[in-house]
Amino acid sequence: MAAIRETWDSRTAFVLAAIGSAIGLGNIWRFPYVTYENGGGAFLVAYFICLFIAGIPLLMLEFSIGHKFQQASPGSFRKITPRLEWFGWFAAGVGFIIVTYYAIIMAWSMNYTYEAATLGWEQEEGVYADAQYAIAETGLEDMAVLTQIPDSLVGRSFVSPVTAQPCVICADPVSGTSSYGTILVAFGGYLYGFETVDDANAFMGSPGDFFFNDFLGVTSEPWDMGDFKWPLFIGFSLAWIWIVASVWKGTKTVSKVVYFTVLIPWGLLLLFVIRGLTLSGAGKGLEFYLTPVWSNLMNGKLWLAAISQVFFSLSVGFAIMIAYGSFLPKKTNIAANAMIIGVADAMTAFFGGLAVFSALGHHAESLGVPVSQVVSSGPGLAFVAYPHIITQLPGARIFGVLFFLMLLTLAVDSAFSLLEAVTASVKDKWNTSHKKANLIVGGLAFLLGIPMLTGMGIHILDIADHFMNSFGLTLVVLGEVLIIGWGTGAEEQRQYINRNSSFSIGVWWNLCVRWIIPMGILWMIFSEIQDRALPYGSFALRSQEFLFGWLLIILLPVVGDLLASARGRGEGL
Ligand code: PFF
Repeated sequence: MAAIRETWDSRTAFVLAAIGSAIGLGNIWRFPYVTYENGGGAFLVAYFICLFIAGIPLLMLEFSIGHKFQQASPGSFRKITPRLEWFGWFAAGVGFIIVTYYAIIMAWSMNYTYEAATLGWEQEEGVYADAQYAIAETGLEDMAVLTQIPDSLVGRSFVSPVTAQPCVICADPVSGTSSYGTILVAFGGYLYGFETVDDANAFMGSPGDFFFNDFLGVTSEPWDMGDFKWPLFIGFSLAWIWIVASVWKGTKTVSKVVYFTVLIPWGLLLLFVIRGLTLSGAGKGLEFYLTPVWSNLMNGKLWLAAISQVFFSLSVGFAIMIAYGSFLPKKTNIAANAMIIGVADAMTAFFGGLAVFSALGHHAESLGVPVSQVVSSGPGLAFVAYPHIITQLPGARIFGVLFFLMLLTLAVDSAFSLLEAVTASVKDKWNTSHKKANLIVGGLAFLLGIPMLTGMGIHILDIADHFMNSFGLTLVVLGEVLIIGWGTGAEEQRQYINRNSSFSIGVWWNLCVRWIIPMGILWMIFSEIQDRALPYGSFALRSQEFLFGWLLIILLPVVGDLLASARGRGEGL
């Protein structure tokens, strides 16, 4: 007799679990930095378009695949035809690689909870050592970023320590006779001038400096390993213990944990949005975030960034939603659930953006620079921009601790959803006990993450993130829409969804699955490949990084094929 498949405790438990998987670091860490990198407003427009024409239809597709075949991803594709099982494993493999680096960001957050409690990223020492551009006595002892020269200093002369020329301080730092930079910092009785924000940050012993140099010990070359960071190893281990414990008994544990891991961070996020919006200068940041430069919409790279962010954020293309769909009871409501989950996720990202960009606006105002230049972008954004801002808030320590706790509670249910999806795949195939499968999968992901605890960690993470999102998720989704849209039939799947939904979806869904999504993805991948020589992050993509990225993508289907051809012992084989 076939064993009864485990199911969710209730509809709310399922919706919360799926929302929990969708909402994660993708909303608060990745979404803002990708939006920032892609110029703000136009990206937001592309994001919402991709959400409705690709993200939500794909959620419906993935839930319905799992629900129909009652198996996780590999088993579902095996049921379509045994020749496709490898593809199901490929999808699980892409998610698996993502969770290996996702747990690293959880480890950073874990350690930053402690750094926030002690404001460890504020380094007072070393400030004087770097000071090369002292230009005049101000009498101001406390550090202050000045947006204009104090009247009392205008007209005073001094000898430039840089050029050794006599200079006069004038009211306008840019066009004046003395070129002492456009960013002015008064500290320890002197006024310092800087040309760029990075120079100013470095001088101030900034959180950026702390994050990259002290905390991560980042090496200048991606393949230079640097030091192993033991404190990070502790945070990393704690993160994994938490992830594995949360799914110890499968959907039973998940159904309970999600009430906390979804609702608590939402409350905290609201707090941050309110705090952000009430900061001075917030408007500048919001303008950058919400005003689209329409011409940017002609850029294929922007669309690829938007669609892959939608996939990442909705956990689509990871094999997760197929597994979660397979735990749904017979009578269910696929279309409505997908709608609720998709909109809740996008709203959370949107709110996350409000918090980040208003805070960036505040920071830009205090430095007197445009929002587009205020921080260096990339995966470090949340760990550089937020601490900057948190430090300036009253009650900095409390806000800091809450912020990183919010990141952690958001992240944990995304990470365990992936663990659960791969565990379910292993269980379906080999009939292993849930706990054993969990430990094997979690243990393997843990081991693969260890190299990322060294000085080259963020480089590997950046490359893996780039390739897994731009090519991994998009190729999985492309495969799904080709297999269902053109293989088993979009119309048949649509009818299946409609039979299991409170409202019917129209033929527009077939159009999305058969034409719009595949054509869109092909166009975007094509323009990304054409542009590959362009730099991303802090360094250009050189051939070794490129090779490593592609190797990851090519290896996954091969491993998938090996797993598919291994002999299974599970139900229905
Ligand atoms: N949807 C998740 C997020 O936006 O953070 C992405 C995710 C990452 C899900 C890693 C699962 C996972 F293991």
